[in-house]
Amino acid sequence: MKTRSAIVREVPGKWEVVELDLDEPGTGEVLVRTVAAGLCHSDDHITTGDLPVKTMPMCGGHEGSGVVEAVGPEVNGIAVGDHVVFTYIPICGRCRWCSSGLQALCDLGSGTLHGSRPGDPTSFRMHLDGAPVGQNSGVSTFSEYTTVDARSLVVVDKDLPLEVAALVGCGVLTGWGAAVNSAEVRPGDVVVVMGIGGIGINAVQGAVHAGAAEVIAVDPVEFKRNTALALGATSAFADISEAVQYARSITNGQGADSVIVTVGVTVGEHVAQGFSAIRKAGTLVVVGLGPKSARELPISSTELVLYHKRIQGSLFGGAKPLSDIPRALDLYRKGILKLDELITTRYPLDDIVQGYDDMHGGRNIRGLVTFS
Ligand SMILES: NC(=O)c1ccc[n+]([C@@H]2O[C@H](COP(=O)([O-])OP(=O)(O)OC[C@H]3O[C@@H](n4cnc5c(N)ncnc54)[C@H](O)[C@@H]3O)[C@@H](O)[C@H]2O)c1
Ligand SMILES: [Zn+2]
Ligand SMILES: [Zn+2]
Repeated sequence: MKTRSAIVREVPGKWEVVELDLDEPGTGEVLVRTVAAGLCHSDDHITTGDLPVKTMPMCGGHEGSGVVEAVGPEVNGIAVGDHVVFTYIPICGRCRWCSSGLQALCDLGSGTLHGSRPGDPTSFRMHLDGAPVGQNSGVSTFSEYTTVDARSLVVVDKDLPLEVAALVGCGVLTGWGAAVNSAEVRPGDVVVVMGIGGIGINAVQGAVHAGAAEVIAVDPVEFKRNTALALGATSAFADISEAVQYARSITNGQGADSVIVTVGVTVGEHVAQGFSAIRKAGTLVVVGLGPKSARELPISSTELVLYHKRIQGSLFGGAKPLSDIPRALDLYRKGILKLDELITTRYPLDDIVQGYDDMHGGRNIRGLVTFS
C-alpha cells in the first residue's frame, strides 16, 4: 500500500514528506493507522547526525499512537480496531533484561537504529523507488500508516484520547521514570530538572509524584519555566548556577539530592554542572543526548569518589513499558498525571519542519503531528 510519511535523506538534513510503499504485515507484525506522533528531540538528533542511524533515507518518529488496521499471522493479544501506543524499544518479554524488570533494555532494542526489523538488519517494510527506507526505532510514527513488529505495541483502553496517549510512548515515561526509577526520588527530596521540554516537564511531574519537597526547574526560556511551575515545580531559574545557589541555600550548603539532565543537546558541560550540584552521595541522572562522538565529561573523579556521588544514565526512564504505559494513562485518567497541558501545538504532517523549528525556538513543550 501507499502511505505519506516524513523522511530524512541525508545528514545534516530536513524532514521531507513523500509517498512511500508500505508492506502488509508479515508474521508477528501489525499494520497501524497512526493518529498522533510527538516531535521528540531525539528525531532531530537523527537529522543533525548527533544520533547516527544505519539506514538512509529514514522515516522518523518513535513517539505515537494509532489504531490497528490489520494483523499478520502469529500475533496474539492484538486485534483489528485496537488502540495502541508505540514503544520505541520493542519488548520480547523473555530476554535477561525483560525478565528482570528492565524492559527498556530489551535485547531487541539493540538493532532499532538500523531502521530494519528488530533482529534482522536486512529486512525492511518501507520502500521508496524500490530502495529500503529505515523505520526509526522500528516504528516510524511520522507516517500515516506503518507496519511494525507486534512487540513494539502496547494496547490501551479505548476511552483514552489517542492524542495524549501518544506522549506516553516516549516523553512521559522517559521523564517521569527518570525521576521515579532512575533518580529514585524520595519524599522530602530536593530535585533539580535541567531542561524543560517534552522530557523534562515529565521529570518534574515524576519528582512531584515521588514526594519531592522541592522541585527546581531550569530552562533559559520563560514559557518553559512557567509551565514547570504550573505542573508542580516549586521554583524555576533561567540558569543552572542560580538553581545550584538556591538548592544549597535550602540544604545547609549540601546541594540537591538529585539532578536530572534533560537538555535538548546535552554536552559534557551540562553533565559537569549537574554533577557539581548534587550533595554527597547524591544522584545525577543523564537523560539528554548530544553528539555521539563526544567523549569528554569534565568532572573530577576525586569528587566522584570522596563525595560518593552516583552518575546514572537513563534510557526510557528505566521503565517497564508493558505495565507502565497503562499505569501512566491510569494516572492521567485520575487527574494525577497531566498530559493535555503538555501539547503546545498540533501540526499536519506537511508542517513537520515548522514543528521542529518551533521546538528549537523554545515555543513548544511538545509539538504533536496529528493525522486526520
Ligand atoms: N534517554 C532517553 O531515553 C531519551 C528519550 C527521549 C529523549 N531523550 C533526549 O532528551 C533530551 C530532551 O528531549 P526533549 O524532547 O525534551 O527536548 P526539547 O528540545 O523539547 O527540550 C530541551 C529543553 O532544554 C532547554 N535547554 C537548552 N539548554 C539548556 C541549558 N543549558 N540549561 C537548561 N535547559 C536548557 C531548552 O530550552 C528546552 O526547553 C534530548 O537530548 C533527547 O534526545 C532521551
Ligand atoms: Zn523520544
Ligand atoms: Zn527482551
